[in-house]
Amino acid sequence: MNDRNSMGELPHGRPPQTEFDTGLDYPRLGSVTFRRGTLTENQEKLFNDNWPRLGMVLSDQLIDFDAWFGRAGHPTIVEIGSGTGTSTAAMAVHEPDTNIIAVELYKPGLAKLLGTVVREEIDNIRMVRGDGVEVLARMIPDASLKGVRIFFPDPWPKARHHKRRIVQTGTLNLIARKLIDGGVLHVATDHADYAEWIDELVNAEPQLNFKGFPWEDSPIITDRHVITKFEGKGLDKDHVIREYLWVKES
Ligand SMILES: C[S@@+](CC[C@H](N)C(=O)[O-])C[C@H]1O[C@@H](n2cnc3c(N)ncnc32)[C@H](O)[C@@H]1O
Repeated sequence: MNDRNSMGELPHGRPPQTEFDTGLDYPRLGSVTFRRGTLTENQEKLFNDNWPRLGMVLSDQLIDFDAWFGRAGHPTIVEIGSGTGTSTAAMAVHEPDTNIIAVELYKPGLAKLLGTVVREEIDNIRMVRGDGVEVLARMIPDASLKGVRIFFPDPWPKARHHKRRIVQTGTLNLIARKLIDGGVLHVATDHADYAEWIDELVNAEPQLNFKGFPWEDSPIITDRHVITKFEGKGLDKDHVIREYLWVKES
């Protein structure tokens, strides 16, 4: 493990973006720079002590779930854009037999989740710092996930920024490739315009069968158990929360 990885630092410069040859649409982040933010002294210490065991930085190494979680044969769910990890931690304790991988670019968010994981001794969460699309493409084996969660993704409200939205035909195809048969994709948004955008895409990926919400027979839990930070901000503005579930059927 190199020093940069053990400190949770991404390489300098523009994050790498895979060139996909599917002809589908993927988020194009262009020159977007993600909030850097700094850690408090306590967070820094906690991070340095625990990240090497519980975290990884985006790389070209496929993750061996059994080795990383130290147990064999448990299902794995990836959450993209876990933010400060409020719902990640709240859900994980209700699904102790499931491995949860939280993917986030924002280091202070990961530090907050890491703090919760360590304090509350939650042993089924691991973290990857990087762009969720790249992490899926380069670190997650095909047909390996029981679920993918995307809660309150950045809405990129301006029309010229819509191409940055994570929910696109290519991402749905990539997620389908990473799910096992019967695996579930769960997306939630409080942004009316993003909801309209997703409505247009619910049947875009032939391997993802749209189930709507709620779906009683979902094989993964779909209750966040807490109101996430961004969900709370939306509710304060009387936003309506829209949820979407798909099941992978090849
Ligand atoms: C609006 S916040 C929602 C956070 C959290 N899910 C919640 O509900 O409180 C969106 C988060 O996604 C992260 N994010 C945006 N694009 C991402 C990407 N391509 N890969 C990983 N994380 C991403 C941002 O850093 C931010 O923390």
